[in-house]
Amino acid sequence: MRIMDITDFFTSPRYVLALVVIVFTIWYMRRKRYSKPLPPGPTPWPLIGNLPLFVQKGIPFHKVAKMLQGKYGNIVKVHAGPATLIFLMGKETVHKATHEMNDKFKYRPTNIFLIKHIFQNKGILFSNGEVNSALRKYALGTMREFGVGKRSLEERIQEEAGILCQVLESKNGQPSYFMNNFKMAASNIIAGIVYGNRFEYDDPVFKRLLSDIDTLFKNGSLTLPENFLPLLRFLPGSRLKKLEEQFKDLESYARTQIEDHRTTFDPENVRDFVDMFLKMEGSGDPFMTEDNLHRVIVELFNAGTDTTANTIVWGILLLITYPDTQKKLRAEILKVVGTERYIRLEDKRNMPYLRAFLDEVQRFSGVAPQTPPHTVLEDTEFEGYTIPKNSNVIFILFTLLHDADVWGDPDNFRPERFLNDAGEYVELNKDSFIPFSAGGRSCIGKHLARMELLLFFGTLVQKFEFKAPPGADLPSLERIQSGVTCQTKPYDICAVPFSQ
Ligand code: HEM
Repeated sequence: MRIMDITDFFTSPRYVLALVVIVFTIWYMRRKRYSKPLPPGPTPWPLIGNLPLFVQKGIPFHKVAKMLQGKYGNIVKVHAGPATLIFLMGKETVHKATHEMNDKFKYRPTNIFLIKHIFQNKGILFSNGEVNSALRKYALGTMREFGVGKRSLEERIQEEAGILCQVLESKNGQPSYFMNNFKMAASNIIAGIVYGNRFEYDDPVFKRLLSDIDTLFKNGSLTLPENFLPLLRFLPGSRLKKLEEQFKDLESYARTQIEDHRTTFDPENVRDFVDMFLKMEGSGDPFMTEDNLHRVIVELFNAGTDTTANTIVWGILLLITYPDTQKKLRAEILKVVGTERYIRLEDKRNMPYLRAFLDEVQRFSGVAPQTPPHTVLEDTEFEGYTIPKNSNVIFILFTLLHDADVWGDPDNFRPERFLNDAGEYVELNKDSFIPFSAGGRSCIGKHLARMELLLFFGTLVQKFEFKAPPGADLPSLERIQSGVTCQTKPYDICAVPFSQ
């Protein structure tokens, strides 16, 4: 009998069919079985998964997620290269994951290259377990100690708002894009808490650090190709390499500041976040290491700059688009604060319109449209599906902030929705209004950010009328997303001082 040659084998339909059946049977038998099905989602391509969905030019990540929600429901599985992403959307789903099942969903994944390579299990943002709990507690406690909710920080923010106003005033009402100034103002508030000082706006070091933060925010996303093909980082122009360099630059600046603090440290006079650390260093707490301190400092600057500045830019765009809102806001500020003093935190209770405006800006803009990835440490049954161990679980906050069933007309900007018939401010739809997320990994800067937004906006609207440049169309309300946050398209504004 002739020994069959390989060509015969592949040209015989019977043998090919037999091979397919064998391969399929082996795959079927070895395939992981789950007690509940995996969530539905679009069919992935070999190797690249569903990446083409996310790299469509001009279509932000949250829009793709919303489109998938319409097709598959509130829990959707997609593949970014080899990584499994699970999107959780809608009020009930996200509420369950952040409350009843918070203990399962409060972890961050450690198998993504960017996280493994740059962040490791250090700092707050991408750490887990005891490291995360200890550093969250330290950061929250120290931010409270150094003024969040207190007069000392209120004065710092008022001072920064005053300096910001001088910059705006120096433009004499001429068109300008103030994004960088807003970033400087937000970043200086963190610098005050962390280092006890502020940077001048023309300081080249400050500009460099802000540019580092910008790069991290624009590129530090799950869909970075190096996450799936780490070798790409050795190619010229690799974004991961740039990210790494800029992260190191921010850390090395933090290191020099810590060294400076060491030389003047006085345990009887703890001045700021770094001093507090120096006091606790050596206390026996295994997480109070200098490595963790660098990381936390960089994270506070990163997380607190772009998010807050983008919210201010959105707010001003909305003031320009809705001049009646701007008028009402100014009328309230004049009535409660007048023109001779700065707005104070305690004015808040007499300013329902400002509070409603700020909530609506956060709801409408969805500056953080999705959370960074969470994960589950074991296969987890959730709402009739299995969430596989180590998958990247992302809460799409935008779907809650823009849920038509909750808000009625989510795409309209309407601060009045946060006012009752008597014109009093009401906290509305608390389970859906979660711009800072919820549960065990929710934003630790929430109170600081809300304090800044109140004082910055109160001061800006007190001092300026914001308008589109003469003859220009109103800027677009379209959202763009290059990286973590949702931004406006760049637009020029005229900030006309009321004294003119
Ligand atoms: C308008 C401004 C801000 C918005 C919209 C915002 C939003 C968020 C969101 C959505 C998360 C993810 C939560 C999750 O994964 O479930 C987060 C996490 C975080 N935010 Fe903010 N944030 C803002 C300002 C700030 C500020 C000012 C700081 C610093 C002082 C800050 C520090 C952090 C940190 C450290 C985390 C990580 C928490 C963890 O993983 O345990 N954020 N923020």
